[in-house]
Amino acid sequence: MNWTREQRYRSFSGMTKEEYEKLQQTVEQSPWRQTFHIQPPIGLLNDPNGFCFHSGQYHLFYQWFPFGPVHGLKHWYHVTSDDLVHWENQGVGMEPQKWFESHGAYSGSGIVHDDKLHLLYTGNTRDSEWKRHSYQCIAIMDKHGDIKKHTAPIIQGPPEGYTQHFRDPKVWQQGDSFYLVIGAQRENQTGCVLLYRSSNTFQWEFVGEVKTGKNDFGFMWECPDYFELDGKGVLLFSPQGLEAQNYHYQNIYQSGFLIGTPIHLDDGFFEHGEFQELDAGFDFYAQQTTLAPDGRRILIGWMGLPEIEYPTDRHQWAHCLTIPRELFIKNGSLYQQPVREMEKLRRSHTAKFDTINNESKTYDSIYGQCYELKSEINIQTAATCGIKLRTGQEEETVLYYDNDKKEIVLDRGKSGERFAEAYGFTRSKPLDVEALSLHIFVDVSSVEIFVNEGAYVFTARIFPSRDSRGIAFFARNGRIDLQVDHWSYE
Ligand code: FRU
Repeated sequence: MNWTREQRYRSFSGMTKEEYEKLQQTVEQSPWRQTFHIQPPIGLLNDPNGFCFHSGQYHLFYQWFPFGPVHGLKHWYHVTSDDLVHWENQGVGMEPQKWFESHGAYSGSGIVHDDKLHLLYTGNTRDSEWKRHSYQCIAIMDKHGDIKKHTAPIIQGPPEGYTQHFRDPKVWQQGDSFYLVIGAQRENQTGCVLLYRSSNTFQWEFVGEVKTGKNDFGFMWECPDYFELDGKGVLLFSPQGLEAQNYHYQNIYQSGFLIGTPIHLDDGFFEHGEFQELDAGFDFYAQQTTLAPDGRRILIGWMGLPEIEYPTDRHQWAHCLTIPRELFIKNGSLYQQPVREMEKLRRSHTAKFDTINNESKTYDSIYGQCYELKSEINIQTAATCGIKLRTGQEEETVLYYDNDKKEIVLDRGKSGERFAEAYGFTRSKPLDVEALSLHIFVDVSSVEIFVNEGAYVFTARIFPSRDSRGIAFFARNGRIDLQVDHWSYE
């Protein structure tokens, strides 16, 4: 379907009950609806927004276009949770209705101040020549969940020297001051992050660019986030326009981080190491973090990418969010682990120890389409070894270690319905180890694989048939010792 501008720029309150029900019926017939991931009721989901703990609950919003699987007029959809794993739909959080958000209530973040949730976001507008004008805006949510937008933008546009690609404010508090990082583009078409300061969340002063030393690194940096962890400063962002090179930047757009000494908040100076990607897989973008009440730094990402068609498009919905991950600093890098609350989803448990010698093995009760799997593999003599997930007659999603090349590979070439073909079917990372520790989460249409305590995470959407439910463990040209724990979520 070709979407006209009129069709793309309708807002939710203009949707009739019949339209909603028709879309819902199509969505319900999709064989790829997830069971434990946040997904849109209908239409398209993208970035996580406004992730915050407030009044005893986690609040999370996401970018939402209700009318179909395209990037149209963006709303904020609201979900809440007591425990990060059971989420409840709360309906539309923000619908774009004001002049300064006429073409979308774009991404943003939240912070609790004076007992209320302050939501800072981007108002996206287009003028009569379809030129973009971006505003930073604020809305306040009270204890009852009522959200009121401020009548005017709080930042009227980018400072001099930057284009209208100016969006996705991430707010935090340090001492008595509030700070924002905002994704931006310099007039010479390179991406960067801008830093602002406020004493009250309404009046903002431009501090300067975050001085990263990455002065020619893609044309736009979307969805920045900044926090300190273990004494380090961590800047996350999603750069667009990097060229693929061997192990790096294989997706259409990237997401990653710079770690260093904390940013100097008075002038934006940031001393840091190399840019590293957050996810080694295929479908990950525009992540956002929050601080849990117990001090954990939690990250959720969009399990999808812009400008890529997905097989669920024809079922009138697209995308989901990742499971929440806890962040750690280890060996000067950022490690990610599934939040421990995932254990709440565990049902029947099966454990197995075995040795596999140049063969492929399956085990009773170790299969399914929604489960958690932990596997310790002692590589011993094998040349390659790994796990096949969602296996069926002709389908398999393969994670393997190549002991000669010293790399770990995810292959979704035979995962089911193919998509994003221009970007290839394998993703790999260098890894030189004697043992592999894999922590895997499989839902109806996704896999998330945490490798060796979260040194790498491979995230991928897959679209297999329902009866591809097998799991196989294999070793080629040699032996592995294997320990498996499987928890069904079904
Ligand atoms: C990232 C992004 C953001 C923007 C939002 C619009 O995916 O392009 O930069 O705010 O999506 O939906």
